[in-house]
Amino acid sequence: MRLSRLQLLGGAAVVAALGLAVAAWIVYEPEIPKIARPDVSSFDPKLVQKGEQLATVGDCIVCHTAPNGRPFAGSRALPTPFGTLYSDNITPDAATGIGSWSLQAFTRAMKQGVARDGSHLYPALPYEHFTHVSDEDLKAVYAFLMTRQPVSQTAPDNKLIPGLGFRQLLAGWKLLFLHQGEVVPQADQSPEWNRGKYLVEGLAHCGGCHTPRNLAGGEELGQSFAGGIAEGWNAPALDASNPAAALWDTASLFNYLKTGLDREHSAAAGPMGPVTEGLSRLNDADVKAIAVYINSQMHGSATYVSASASAAVMDNPSAGTAHPEADRLFNGSCAGCHAPGAPMNLRSRPALSTATDLRADDPRNAIQAVLQGIAPEGDKGPYMPSFSNILTDSQVADLLAYARARFTDKPAWKNLDAKVADIRKENAE
Ligand code: HEC
Ligand code: HEC
Ligand code: HEC
Repeated sequence: MRLSRLQLLGGAAVVAALGLAVAAWIVYEPEIPKIARPDVSSFDPKLVQKGEQLATVGDCIVCHTAPNGRPFAGSRALPTPFGTLYSDNITPDAATGIGSWSLQAFTRAMKQGVARDGSHLYPALPYEHFTHVSDEDLKAVYAFLMTRQPVSQTAPDNKLIPGLGFRQLLAGWKLLFLHQGEVVPQADQSPEWNRGKYLVEGLAHCGGCHTPRNLAGGEELGQSFAGGIAEGWNAPALDASNPAAALWDTASLFNYLKTGLDREHSAAAGPMGPVTEGLSRLNDADVKAIAVYINSQMHGSATYVSASASAAVMDNPSAGTAHPEADRLFNGSCAGCHAPGAPMNLRSRPALSTATDLRADDPRNAIQAVLQGIAPEGDKGPYMPSFSNILTDSQVADLLAYARARFTDKPAWKNLDAKVADIRKENAE
């Protein structure tokens, strides 16, 4: 039977209409009606307290607070490869925050990335991970947020690469990269390990930074914890390829996560700083569970204990001969804290030879540490000044080439000068 042109056209139209209907069905999310802001006294204080701990694990305050801004009131700029996003106000202000959101609307935002009005949210809100959090835990986070001080504040408009400001596109993105479902406990592992997995894969969203992403910004399946990027820094691999000089174990991971510093490793600099600052407020049992789970990712077993607790402290004296200018600079600007045996070194500070940043294949984090310094929240934790306004690009490059030659057994980094200049430019944007 031969189809007439009209029939063919009609067929094509039906197929196109069906396609559009399917697309619209995927894209469409209904608005969830506004509610009157729930009374603070309607929330059980115990639930609020639990929610506070869980919100701490989720770093809500980190992304949802602008520099010097009110907590949870949003407007913090988040640079992404696709442009700059501004976080929303998640205080219970009815007009500008989430005061008129029901628990149902909140849960949908966290698990499916859809705002109360039905619009799709960008995955900068890490719903790829929050989707794994139990409804019960989200109820606690909701109770915590709804009992905060409401703040009236609206975020600036996002500045995205042209074409990506169209939120409907996010429905397609989710179809590819949002894998919903709760974390299934593994019967052959301890309750502690399973608790760690639940926290890490869900609220703590460690993979959000430590897992590589594809060109569309989705996390690479099957490459969990192979190392990723975050706000101009590299988040090192947390699997068997972790580059640290001394192997991590549960105890050192616990120290690092809870205090931002471990004697046999280094300090949590850059975007890892606020993560450890948050975890310092989390109960020890949950931090330990996270350490147990991460330890198992690094060593294939949850019970691995470091064989040699400390790596040999490397200090190669010939480095100064190859880099005389840097040797002089290091003695003047860095040695007070970093020379082996320097006063700060005698206390709990690690030696530079244990710093993952100096040993990594990519000099990015070492450059960032020198340019930005290490600024702890408040006055807790390790401090290093920023040398951005003190040292030129070539001085930073020379110093780091020298430090790598002196404190590690790794081959020299290539094109350091150009990389310092590039990173300085990125930081200024
Ligand atoms: C890595 C940064 C980041 C973290 C961590 C984060 N958020 Fe967000 N969140 C964002 C950004 C950015 C947006 C805006 C997304 C958009 O505009 O599409 C957002 C949006 C939201 C929204 C939607 C608000 C609205 O008005 O549409 C809610 C609700 C929310 N976040 C709650 C939370 C909670 C609760 C936590 C902690 C458990 C959290 N977020 C952690 C970055 C973050
Ligand atoms: C916002 C991004 C981000 C998140 C979320 C994040 N990390 Fe990190 N992490 C980093 C960066 C960046 C570094 C490198 C810090 C440095 O150079 O000092 C790092 C470093 C580390 C290190 C040190 C690795 C080494 O060998 O030196 C460990 C361990 C670690 N993170 C564990 C975690 C765990 C566990 C979580 C979840 C609870 C987590 N991270 C969440 C960005 C992040
Ligand atoms: C006031 C003390 C102080 C001075 C001065 C100082 N640092 Fe640091 N630096 C620290 C502390 C604290 C840390 C974090 C703990 C650690 O890794 O030793 C650190 C860490 C580092 C790291 C590793 C970052 C990481 O987290 O892995 C590098 C690289 C570094 N410093 C280089 C330098 C260089 C180069 C200079 C001189 C230009 C310098 N520092 C000057 C205190 C200082």
